[in-house]
Amino acid sequence: MPSENNDTNKGLSRRQWMLGTGALATTAALTHLGGLLRPAQATGGTTEKWPWPYEKLDPTVTAELAYKEWYRVFCGCAVISSVFTQLREKVGEPYTSFPIDAFVFLEGGIASWGTICGSNAGANIVSNLIIGPRIAGADAGHQIGTDVMQWYCESALPVFKPKEPKIHAVIPQTISESPLCHVSVGKWMAVADKPVGSPERKDRCARVTASVAYHLVELLNAWKDGKYEEQGDWTPISDHGINAQPNCMECHSGGVPQAPMAKS
Ligand code: HEC
Repeated sequence: MPSENNDTNKGLSRRQWMLGTGALATTAALTHLGGLLRPAQATGGTTEKWPWPYEKLDPTVTAELAYKEWYRVFCGCAVISSVFTQLREKVGEPYTSFPIDAFVFLEGGIASWGTICGSNAGANIVSNLIIGPRIAGADAGHQIGTDVMQWYCESALPVFKPKEPKIHAVIPQTISESPLCHVSVGKWMAVADKPVGSPERKDRCARVTASVAYHLVELLNAWKDGKYEEQGDWTPISDHGINAQPNCMECHSGGVPQAPMAKS
């Protein structure tokens, strides 16, 4: 154990130590501040080490769980819950400490604002937590989230039929061509001719959530087996000069505005 006065070991003579107390105190304060400002990963937070442990899950079991959970915590949180409650059982930490129910706010396209469909947000949260974010070099985490959104846009949803559905009416399938709650639910409501508060609309969203959870787990399982390949063909922002889903005509049918582009 070094003694308290053993400053020479740190490259400081005792005299420098005596003279430099004030400066050292300042340095110490700055070092402390530096610690606070350092990126989370560098401080070694246990949850910011990727990938999180993952064990392959059964897509059908996951989808059934997501369907059931929709009626408790709604779309985004139900996707997270369907994957993480199983991993709490199979793996334990860090899933045990992760506050699943906090993500109820993803409902209705985030607090009913109709923006991103919560099931897409939930899928992105899950893939980026398990595999890690792209800034940590975990490209697959980012990519799986993107793949889920493109699949969501292009698929006739819902595809998943629960074993014991809450309602037995026929639920039409619609293609949203958008990852947005408002667009996805709106197109379905127009075809089904059902209001947002109807049992049919609710069950449709529960089944969409289950469909997303199913597909997410398929992709995560492929990643776990080292067989995951990027599915989407998303166009980069640089092609458009603005963040957007790439089917611009969907909303700008009267003509797609030109974003100001950087002059190179
Ligand atoms: C989900 C609907 C939607 C989609 C899809 C969409 N936009 Fe937009 N965009 C809007 C809305 C709403 C505005 C606000 C102003 C407006 O209506 O033009 C806007 C504004 C813009 C603007 C800036 C305002 C302007 O008029 O110059 C640009 C540039 C733009 N969009 C380009 C695109 C491009 C390029 C794509 C495809 C890569 C795209 N948008 C896809 C809905 C959409």
